[in-house]
Amino acid sequence: KRRIGILTSGGDCPGLNAAIRGVARASYELFDAEFVGIADGYKGLIEGDYREMTENDFKGILTLGGTILGTSRRPYRNMRKIEDDNINKVEAMKANYKKMKLDCLVTLGGNGTHKTANLLAEEGLNVIGLPKTIDNDIWGTDVTFGFHTAVDIATDVVDRIHTTANSHGRVMVIELMGNKAGWLTLYAGVSGGADIILLPEIPFDLEKVIAMVEKRTKERQRSFSIIAIAEGAFRQDESSLKRKERLARLKEHNYPSTAYQLADQIQGQTGLETRVVVPGHYQRGGSPSPYDRLLATQFGVYAANLIKDENYGQTVAMTGGKVGHNPLPDIAGKTKLVPPHHQIVQAARDMGVSFGE
Ligand code: F6P
Repeated sequence: KRRIGILTSGGDCPGLNAAIRGVARASYELFDAEFVGIADGYKGLIEGDYREMTENDFKGILTLGGTILGTSRRPYRNMRKIEDDNINKVEAMKANYKKMKLDCLVTLGGNGTHKTANLLAEEGLNVIGLPKTIDNDIWGTDVTFGFHTAVDIATDVVDRIHTTANSHGRVMVIELMGNKAGWLTLYAGVSGGADIILLPEIPFDLEKVIAMVEKRTKERQRSFSIIAIAEGAFRQDESSLKRKERLARLKEHNYPSTAYQLADQIQGQTGLETRVVVPGHYQRGGSPSPYDRLLATQFGVYAANLIKDENYGQTVAMTGGKVGHNPLPDIAGKTKLVPPHHQIVQAARDMGVSFGE
């Protein structure tokens, strides 16, 4: 018999329930399994908030968005530091793992989740990770579940904005999700036919952006322009500059730090009417696409097989079209960013799409 604790942590995404269902159904099928559902990610593990689950709990959830387990983002600060929250979080998690009599813990999450999963594995717990995020920025996997559903939604936004932009002859600034990584903006920008795509990984020059808008309007006699910008593109160099220095620099260069400022600057300098669209969490809501249902299901079933083989300390991954796994220490603490010369970026450049360089 294997007792499996399962939790979802970090920002939610479509496909979490499909993955949970995949783990559970395959586990019940492959071995004698028992499930304990841990509420709201690591918060529930620290605070001992959990419940026994049965096969019935995993029925009818394939198409359901969000997560039936609940989630939380950074409920506590540094997991290792006791003084941050006045509680020994690592010991609390270990104690609850023991109390639940678990044989292993399955954690579905993004980069932060994997970091903690690795920490728990270092502490001797049997952990298996599953890579979810609309950002697609987990190291060692070509794709994460949730990403393609978000691409579908964000692309629809870019599509729809075209007709109204055209009717009014406006510049439209669409801010898409993606704090560190620009995958979502790149995919949706290219699929939706954006004219300018701004990513955190490719520092943009405001003058070049404005020049491109003017070029489209004057030379090409196009009456509108669509700019897709990742939210993280406003925080360029954040990793390399301290907050104060960065703010000073942004101020000195009169650099936009929000989509609204960017729109104001474009309108101010070109005289063209400019509007902002921020779809925000709409990009993370609702039912997973068929692609994500399939991916999440495959990942979940693979995780069950890892449990069957007692191959712990791994996270599931897709590489070169094949589902496999990576050791947690190999991927924890890393972020998969868009390479500035990625072939999609290059293809877009070749078509005359501007990255503001
Ligand atoms: O990590 C997924 C993500 O949607 C990012 O793209 C975004 O920056 C962040 O989560 C938003 O976080 P929250 O849901 O906590 O506002």
